[in-house]
Amino acid sequence: MSIDTELDMNTVGAFAERIAGLLTGGATAALMVVGDRLGLYRALAEAGPVTPARLAGLTGTSERYVREWLAQQAAVGIVGHDAADGSFTLPPEHAAVVATDDSPASMIGAAPMITGLHRRVDAMTDAFRTGEGVAWGAQDPMIFESTERFFRVGYRNSLVAEWIPALDGVRERLEAGARVADIGCGHGAPLLLLAGAFPNSRFTGFDAHGPSIETARSRAAGAGVSDRVGFEVSHCQGYPQDEYDLVTFFDSFHDLGDPVGAAAYARAALAPGGTLMLVEPVAGDDLASTLAGVPTAGLNYAASTFLCTANSLSQPVGLALGSLAGEARLRQVLREAGYGSVRRAAENMFNMVLEARP
Ligand SMILES: C[S@@+](CC[C@H](N)C(=O)[O-])C[C@H]1O[C@@H](n2cnc3c(N)ncnc32)[C@H](O)[C@@H]1O
Repeated sequence: MSIDTELDMNTVGAFAERIAGLLTGGATAALMVVGDRLGLYRALAEAGPVTPARLAGLTGTSERYVREWLAQQAAVGIVGHDAADGSFTLPPEHAAVVATDDSPASMIGAAPMITGLHRRVDAMTDAFRTGEGVAWGAQDPMIFESTERFFRVGYRNSLVAEWIPALDGVRERLEAGARVADIGCGHGAPLLLLAGAFPNSRFTGFDAHGPSIETARSRAAGAGVSDRVGFEVSHCQGYPQDEYDLVTFFDSFHDLGDPVGAAAYARAALAPGGTLMLVEPVAGDDLASTLAGVPTAGLNYAASTFLCTANSLSQPVGLALGSLAGEARLRQVLREAGYGSVRRAAENMFNMVLEARP
């Protein structure tokens, strides 16, 4: 395109503003990570209106940096600023999103993921040229931290209260004492929640990434549940097929190089009457419906490009479903893997839950 082309300058202006907004979001994520690490949000939430000097004093940080950080946070609407007394305030409704991991609305755990993506732009630029995959374990560790923190919020909100009861007969089996395998378990957040709710059951998480398994083991020890929750390094087609009542994939199925093979392997690992549970991002069945109906698609596709698609391409088969494959495509994969019954059992804002039986 020549830039001599007659342009609708209103459209150019509006689009440039939108790009400025996107760039501001990308930059703000970096400041959010710093605010989170230094406890600036937590201190703001506890202290009420503060001056930069007071916030710096409360957090053992430098007043000059904190003043600039607060100005940026006010500019993007995270904190309010009172020009009369020079104070800054984090409203409680904002604190619920950025000052704690424990609120159902918490999103601060997603900020390190943005930093993690930025740290791999060189590797991903090369991957785009070569078409080669990038394994999950080659990502920046901030990705692993962020996945655990951010995903756990949704799991804590929905897993025990809504998703498990929505599966046919699964809660009863877990209460009585079931065997559960979680594939692509990462740091193990969902299994630890299940272990807390169903003390009669036994849980094993499997993941190909050794350092994630180390972290998961230390989380289980910290939670005092190591006697009934174990974690093992294993490829999704390598764990013992030990007659599990429930095999789960939490946001890992679309990451696999060979999801058909992994689902078929899991089918052979199920006990009679056992259930396969897939937790996958909510998506439409085609790009147009995903773009129209999934408000977080921009973030999902970013993560999918750098993480999910890249990991799948790093493995044999390299099907590369992408994180927003959609229910119809996932059903097709499960059918190919030999599942006769597939049902969408539940969903929340971010995830849908598919229940499959042989
Ligand atoms: C997006 S993370 C999800 C982690 C965890 N399930 C959660 O929800 O917090 C995907 C996980 O799948 C694992 N993974 C990818 N390919 C795998 C494979 N072929 N076999 C086993 N695990 C795999 C990665 O190492 C990573 O921990």
